Amino acid sequence: MADMDPALGGARCPGTSWQDLMAQDSRPAPACLTEESYQYLGSEPVDASRYTSEAFAQAERERMWPYVWQFAAREEDLPEPGDYVVYENAGRSYLIVRQDDGSIKALHNVCLHRGRKLRSHDGAADAFTCPFHGFSWHKDGSFDTMPCRWDFAHLSAEGLALPEAEVGRWGGYVFLREEPGGPGLEEFLAPLPEHFNRWRHEECTTVIWVAKEVAANWKVTAEAFMEAWHTIVTHPQLLPFTGDCNSAYWFWGDNVNANLVPFGVLSPHLDPAGKSQQWIVDEFIKYNGRSSDNYDAAGDPYAVSVPEGQTAREALGAALRKAYAEQSGYDHDHATDSELLDALVYNVFPNFAPWGGFMPNIVYRWLPGKTADTCVMEVRVLARVKKGEKIPRGVPRNFLTLDQKWTEAAELGGLGAVFEQDMDNLPFVQEGLHASKNGKVQLANYQEIRLRQFHRTLDKYISGELGSAT
Ligand code: FES
Ligand SMILES: [Fe+2]
Repeated sequence: MADMDPALGGARCPGTSWQDLMAQDSRPAPACLTEESYQYLGSEPVDASRYTSEAFAQAERERMWPYVWQFAAREEDLPEPGDYVVYENAGRSYLIVRQDDGSIKALHNVCLHRGRKLRSHDGAADAFTCPFHGFSWHKDGSFDTMPCRWDFAHLSAEGLALPEAEVGRWGGYVFLREEPGGPGLEEFLAPLPEHFNRWRHEECTTVIWVAKEVAANWKVTAEAFMEAWHTIVTHPQLLPFTGDCNSAYWFWGDNVNANLVPFGVLSPHLDPAGKSQQWIVDEFIKYNGRSSDNYDAAGDPYAVSVPEGQTAREALGAALRKAYAEQSGYDHDHATDSELLDALVYNVFPNFAPWGGFMPNIVYRWLPGKTADTCVMEVRVLARVKKGEKIPRGVPRNFLTLDQKWTEAAELGGLGAVFEQDMDNLPFVQEGLHASKNGKVQLANYQEIRLRQFHRTLDKYISGELGSAT
């Protein structure tokens, strides 16, 4: 192993590769799913202190977070004028507010009198009146009034306007950037908007939204969702239908990376003897929580019989394509089996991770906690709104505390149990990083390239190559 030269393009797991699967797909795959976008970025270890040190967390707060586009809300969270969302991250608090003309503002959620937060929960309002002494702002952040105006002759209405962050909107997502300047949103997200032209998240609404406090650094937690090869040991129940080590790993520039984890295919870590294509489908159905008492096979697009000579992927692709067209009202005959079936997980630096593809799309977000040792992980599921119908308001966030389990959010179905398996590792990763004797973390050259690109970009902000110095 030591004499392998990783710079020679990187070794790959033997067996059916993702390129083979794209070539076998029943539909031509788009370039974003067939083109290699891997580059060797070195094999240096990463310092454990990046995950544990308060000084590093502070450097992130000062040098990184204010300069990046942060995913702050979905459009459907605030459909009507006056609707607002409280978005808090990295020591700041914002009111994301829908205006009368449909535009959106990101106002700092802090009273300019003696600093009370103006709002703690999402809601709807035409004015923000501070609950302490009653300074009051219009919903566009301009100052309105206060009691005892005579005692504040030193303050002007202009000077009392709430500070604002920049707002950018794309694909149904609302972003903010605290400090102006730097690349525009679409440039920052590139090439993601081009890829997502096929998957059109602007036609979706949030149907599930669960957040949970996690006893691990936000990067430890995010990185558990940037590679699929921990499936072998952490999620063995997925192996019958997951090509864990045959996944594709890609990155583009500084900000965007992705992996494609093929489903409907046997893991290369299982012995294929005696395992038919139908067996793969049956295992998939079992995992999807469909062994419950009220399971209705007739309404389950995954419940297919694989015709002779077809693969599980082709059969599942055909069934999902049909179900998708019926549910969405869109004809998506061009949708590949891959886009209907696989885990196509993108990450935009630093913490926005939408799934591509056509089926209900998962979106992750990770937010640092009050110390380096905690974070909040959020999971949304976006579902396609039927063609021609108005996008309904999204569901509110279901917040789980440190002591609660993902499985307590019944709306997550089988996903909750998978996340709990991840949670069985993460607090112990955090403890191990504190306890580490050599203070180093090692990364795989290929399957952990997304992590390496992420740290490379983070370094660019910490060093001032990006952000504050640009
Ligand atoms: S702190 Fe807000 S009005 Fe005094
Ligand atoms: Fe996992």
